Amino acid sequence: MAIKLAPLHPLFVAQVTGVDLTSPIPDDVFAKIEAAFHRYAILVFPGQPLTDDQQIDFTKRFGPLETAPNYAGAALRLRNEFTDISNLDHEGRILDPKDRLNQYNLGNQLWHTDSSFKARRAKCSLLSAREIPPVGGETQYADMRSAYDALPEERKSQLHGLVAEHSIAYSRSLTGFDGFNSDIATTLPPVPQRLVDYYPESGRTSLYLASHASHIVGWPVEEGRALLEELTAFATQEQFVYTQNWKVGDLVLWDNRCTMHRGRPYDPTQRRVLHRTTVSDIATSFLEPESKVGDTADSRQGASGIGPRAVD
Ligand code: OGA
Ligand code: MN
Repeated sequence: MAIKLAPLHPLFVAQVTGVDLTSPIPDDVFAKIEAAFHRYAILVFPGQPLTDDQQIDFTKRFGPLETAPNYAGAALRLRNEFTDISNLDHEGRILDPKDRLNQYNLGNQLWHTDSSFKARRAKCSLLSAREIPPVGGETQYADMRSAYDALPEERKSQLHGLVAEHSIAYSRSLTGFDGFNSDIATTLPPVPQRLVDYYPESGRTSLYLASHASHIVGWPVEEGRALLEELTAFATQEQFVYTQNWKVGDLVLWDNRCTMHRGRPYDPTQRRVLHRTTVSDIATSFLEPESKVGDTADSRQGASGIGPRAVD
């Protein structure tokens, strides 16, 4: 069975078939998956009915597993290597929409990227569809590399060197959630992240945005917030967005450093169950050397000759 890639969008996202993720992946096959990950930023693997252990084994090929602290302070259904993207309580029953855990999870319907509020941010996430409602509940993804490419040159240079402060307490306050563990301020204090970053693996430069980004360091809060809102609106225009219509057994892998995503609404009386594993990045974007942020012709066009450039 040979691995096969099929683009699902003009700018990013490819479907991967011809590989069985329920058993160990040979190194040469994994190398192809990794190269596709850097090129497309999002890979969709249909028909992969993974157990939790199989999902963890595949996830670890990409780097160190991130473990999820218990942010919302409720009893959890899954072990702490997983983020529970479901509407179930710890005993597997559908949560009351007013339940605090559901209120917390509503934050996932805002455009975000995972763990940008952590000093060691996330490299990638892997989301495995276990139960899917009959309508709604899609996940949308936005390509922040193509959005960056499409910005006017003058705007690009204004953004270089800017640092945004990211905080989970801030993003969850946007949906009215205030039920955090009392120690959240000490365990997850706000962190600085570069607004623009360059990735040598793909040769691409990307915006780094999320609902967790509250303001620009050193700027008046409202001015920074307005810039973040403007860029988020720009980066999530239709031409940069892919919609994943889930089928049970789909596994989607995404690069958190150069994409954003959001869950779409669905009927909360229907079960929606997805299990997420997350891989930590090697370092914070902020602590990388300054020279990493580049805007050479190579980085703008993509050294690997990825798809068409977005319109300028
Ligand atoms: C995620 C996420 C949104 C959704 O898996 O990290 O934010 O509901 N998912 O699909
Ligand atoms: Mn998420």
